[in-house]
Amino acid sequence: MKNLLKEMTIEEKLGQLIQIPPFFYIKDLKDELYGPAVELGLSKEQIFMTGSVLGIGSPEEMIEVQKTYLENNRHKIPLVFMADIIHGYETIFPIPLALAGSFNKDLVKKVAEISAKEAQTSGIHVTYSPMGDISREPRWGRIMESFGEDPHLNYILNYQMVKGYQGSSIKDEGSLAASFKHFAAYGLSEAGRDYNTVDLSEYSFKQYFAQGYLGAIDAGAKMAMTSFNTFEGIPATMNEKLIQKILKKDFGFEGLIISDYNGVRETITHGISENDKEAALNSFKAGLDIEMVSATYMKELKEEFESGRLPIELLDERVLKVLKFKEELGLFDNPYKGASRIKHDQIVLSSKNLEFALKAANESIVLLQNNNNILPLSKEQKIFLAGPNANETDLNGAWSWHGSRTNNETLYNILNNNDLLTSVEKCDVIVYFGGEKSNESGEAKSKTNINFNESQLNEIIELKKYNKPIILINSSGRPIILTNVIKHTDSILQTWFLGTKSAEAIYQTLYGINNPSAKLPVTFPQKIGQIPIYYNHLPTGRPKGSLYNEYVSYYIDSSNEPLFNFGFGLSYSNFKYLSLSISKDIIKGDEEVILTVNVKNESNRAGYEIDQLYIYDPFAKISRPVKELKDFRKVWFEENEEKKISFKINKEMFKYYDQNLNYRVDDGQIILYVGTSSNKTLEQKIIFVGGDK
Ligand code: BGC
Repeated sequence: MKNLLKEMTIEEKLGQLIQIPPFFYIKDLKDELYGPAVELGLSKEQIFMTGSVLGIGSPEEMIEVQKTYLENNRHKIPLVFMADIIHGYETIFPIPLALAGSFNKDLVKKVAEISAKEAQTSGIHVTYSPMGDISREPRWGRIMESFGEDPHLNYILNYQMVKGYQGSSIKDEGSLAASFKHFAAYGLSEAGRDYNTVDLSEYSFKQYFAQGYLGAIDAGAKMAMTSFNTFEGIPATMNEKLIQKILKKDFGFEGLIISDYNGVRETITHGISENDKEAALNSFKAGLDIEMVSATYMKELKEEFESGRLPIELLDERVLKVLKFKEELGLFDNPYKGASRIKHDQIVLSSKNLEFALKAANESIVLLQNNNNILPLSKEQKIFLAGPNANETDLNGAWSWHGSRTNNETLYNILNNNDLLTSVEKCDVIVYFGGEKSNESGEAKSKTNINFNESQLNEIIELKKYNKPIILINSSGRPIILTNVIKHTDSILQTWFLGTKSAEAIYQTLYGINNPSAKLPVTFPQKIGQIPIYYNHLPTGRPKGSLYNEYVSYYIDSSNEPLFNFGFGLSYSNFKYLSLSISKDIIKGDEEVILTVNVKNESNRAGYEIDQLYIYDPFAKISRPVKELKDFRKVWFEENEEKKISFKINKEMFKYYDQNLNYRVDDGQIILYVGTSSNKTLEQKIIFVGGDK
């Protein structure tokens, strides 16, 4: 690679640090062209010096673009193809927020594995996933791409996703390199408005909001994408502290760093860089390797390196990183790696992949309400089906570019084909399939009103006159406030957007072929004014119940409680948490103690339960959250089965960052909680000895 580098001109080197859409190489591929991409202003020669491509539609397109490029590139350096493969390629899996509710590490890993295998048949090499942005913001449309509000769950699932994509080597056909995003803290956009300001302390960032990214880094993710937002007043794209100190030095990330779409030039609109030249200089100096869909490096930095104002070694180092990455991907040996129509047609949407998509969809459905055990229905029970999603094929959710709705069934068709539908007069139950449409969440889909849709509510109220039980199926890419509708329903299934097999999974869950097991990965507020509301909040000096009468932390027009807590989700089984015990009630130094919970399935229905372990550290150097998830187990119970489930407890779970950013652990009491959701737990106290002074 070093020899190759020697033969390259400065302009050619800079080209490797630029990513543009496929349209520029083959003019017919216009689809990807929008916004600032139109005004890139690169000459034909420069186009054939660029290093990577954003988005590609098929194996044929990839082969054509790569071939054309190689014919025109002096050094025959292959392009690397990157794309947003977020929850599946053509077989679409549940949105990440839904998958998080499965609390199933293996399942999430396998989703990434299948996505990689499918996408690689179109010659894609890198995916812009996972999204490690932790979010407590249901107004933010991109919460659907996140694994929810919890740091631990985010760490684990980001880790699994990267392992799934990258497999044992990114050189292998069928694996993708993972570019986690958006570094950093993009999930905290103020007021839930996309791209808005983010402001948080570094200790809070490291303790909570960085955990998703850390999971991806620890799993060996090869790339990172910076976020659109500012961090401490400086856009992430050109934030030297964030990139050099936190990402590289503190977190040990050694991979490539790419901007988000036109992020370099947006440092101008952020009010820091005065023009393209400054934007390029600021971003380059901060450590940004590749710019996405802008060409300021190529156009503005050439002179800087030629004149020696910027040391050429700095450029060589960056370009070498890119070339080595291409080598690691095996592209110098085979620039068309993976791209094949034959393989595409064998692998994509295969019956095995679809079967797994159904499993993933089933494991992502959350049962929120089930009065009088209305669900599951028996085969004899007939449905009257209503609501705007009853006949909808697009239940894929946002960020599923290659997933065609033509692959999807509607719930109406499935129920109808099984002779399960009838008139409202004759039916046993009314099923109302409402909620959001697929395009109501995703990027730039922020909302101020996330109450359950009013016209749907009125239709449900109207249906009450038939005096039949009402089951609401709620699709959404975010927590919806269900306070207005829950009093009119008997049962609620939260079905998010479940992908290609959405309708099948909903049918199977209605009729008990699937016993719902997912839990909420994010809090569902009771009122909009409670936002941000999350389970792992700090205690406050005046919690409710303290001695100040009404001068406590509460609302005069609402309770503090959410409608549904983090970790909540019912089942057709009935799990009872009987007792909690510990092998020793003092932990010294590096010792490990075993916490054991006794759980019984008090029902005649087998199913999964997700046992959740939380901790609370009541006295520390800084105020600590009232509960923090530290571990979980997804356990299968046969009917009426009782099981002992064990958790290993050690000091790693008690560590935290203090105000001076020291990662520490204290002597003293810790309260351990185990239960079926964050607000329904058994408790056990222990003492830790051997902490930092
Ligand atoms: C999004 C990224 C995405 C990129 C490329 C941006 O608008 O913020 O998440 O990876 O586009 O499609």
